[in-house]
Amino acid sequence: MHPTSDRLRLEVIVASVRPDRFGGVVADWARARLDEHAGFDVSVLDLTDLDLPPGLDGTGDTERLRERVAAADAFVLVTPEYNHGYPGYLKIAIDTLLEEWHVKPLGFVSYGGSGGGARSVEQLRPVFSELQVVAIREQVVLARVWDLFDGPVLRDPDGPQSALKSMLDQLLWWGKTLRAARVGD
Ligand SMILES: Cc1cc2nc3c(=O)[nH]c(=O)nc-3n(C[C@H](O)[C@H](O)[C@H](O)COP(=O)(O)O)c2cc1C
Repeated sequence: MHPTSDRLRLEVIVASVRPDRFGGVVADWARARLDEHAGFDVSVLDLTDLDLPPGLDGTGDTERLRERVAAADAFVLVTPEYNHGYPGYLKIAIDTLLEEWHVKPLGFVSYGGSGGGARSVEQLRPVFSELQVVAIREQVVLARVWDLFDGPVLRDPDGPQSALKSMLDQLLWWGKTLRAARVGD
């Protein structure tokens, strides 16, 4: 079946589920920039809204996650760094599904302390490789993230916005290319 819209369906996955997380601020910033990008229809898949069983037994909100990931053409993952890794609940979300991830691109917006979440992303790249997800080279890295924002506003937006645009341009190219490949063009 051929897609009816030229725009790609993009899910922004928000990985932190901590009650007092900073991730909401980062996700809102990224979402606003994404809405300005002509190539995507954007929705937010916030893991804190999903009840996913650690036993991967298909209960809880597994089907909700499956529907959203299956329908997506591309992903932006907003993830922090915890102890030089990525959040455990994100791994559960990833492992909950299989072919719904396949042959789709994903870009990273990471944040954290000194490393800006870059170590988290380095660990996620081989994980997504196993799922045939194309992990986009360009990425947004927000170090000492709590110093970068004044409330919801980035104090010095040029660098992160430029990095996000580069990532989205690559994501769009891969998204269109892989969507065409999936439908057999
Ligand atoms: C359990 C835990 C471990 C952390 N470990 C690291 C780390 O290894 N490197 C780093 O740069 N920041 C680390 N941080 C700082 C977080 O990246 C930062 O607090 C970030 O805001 C967390 O995202 P969240 O608030 O959206 O959950 C850690 C924070 C927590 C809560």
